[in-house]
Amino acid sequence: RFGLKTKFLGRNIFYEETVDSTQKIAQKLAYEGAEEGTIVLAEEQIGGRGRMDRSWHSPKYKGIWMSVLLRPNIPIMQAPQLTLLTAVAVVQGIEEVTGIQAQIKWPNDVLINGKKVTGILTELQADSDRIHSLIIGIGINVNQHIEDYPEELQNTATSLFIEKKEDWNRAVIIQAILLKMEKLYTIYLENGFYPIKLLWESYALTIGTRITASTLTGKIVGKALGITDDGVLLVEDEQGTTHRIYSADISVTS
Ligand code: BTN
Repeated sequence: RFGLKTKFLGRNIFYEETVDSTQKIAQKLAYEGAEEGTIVLAEEQIGGRGRMDRSWHSPKYKGIWMSVLLRPNIPIMQAPQLTLLTAVAVVQGIEEVTGIQAQIKWPNDVLINGKKVTGILTELQADSDRIHSLIIGIGINVNQHIEDYPEELQNTATSLFIEKKEDWNRAVIIQAILLKMEKLYTIYLENGFYPIKLLWESYALTIGTRITASTLTGKIVGKALGITDDGVLLVEDEQGTTHRIYSADISVTS
């Protein structure tokens, strides 16, 4: 169990050397009735998946490629809250182990010095309006050197090694993040999203700054005001109109 100090997160761990995607395995386990807290970990993904149908570069032994199964009794609309919660857990876990202060770019990219160190992808299975299972995929770039990245990622991605010139023990980072995540999830179930939202906003890079949100229907330029309780991003444009952004790529504009 990798020396885990958690109560239920990671009580069942499925560990594989090479997989297509840990998301797929976790989905199958969820479907078969695996219990909440089940985790799938792999050393390498051949078909790692990212948001918006992108692929996720997951080289062998270099990073943490992990999927976490949760079964919260919440409406589908609230599922993004758990993605935001996971980003907070990752920031806190990274900080505890490495001392690096990472930041969150809405909705759930974790960045260090403006470059991406972690991506989170949440997929869910639901009957009518209730969530049956939530698969939270976490990809953390840990020990990659810059030349391990394909050229097109070298300007936008980073790793914990690149930031600190130090090799990190991935198990220690997994332990820290899962412990944070379990604590936050317990707070969430007992007290709702508000305390998590405050933490999320304290790490958020984009709140209060001028951003460009590229959505499927066009670009919105304005000031990011904050997030709603559902995790929707609020952006105020030059005319003073507030837009609710459900899905977009965000860049900081000056
Ligand atoms: C993104 O930023 O686009 C999300 C990337 C999510 C990557 C992780 S790695 C573990 C899990 N398995 C996958 O195929 N994807 C997620």
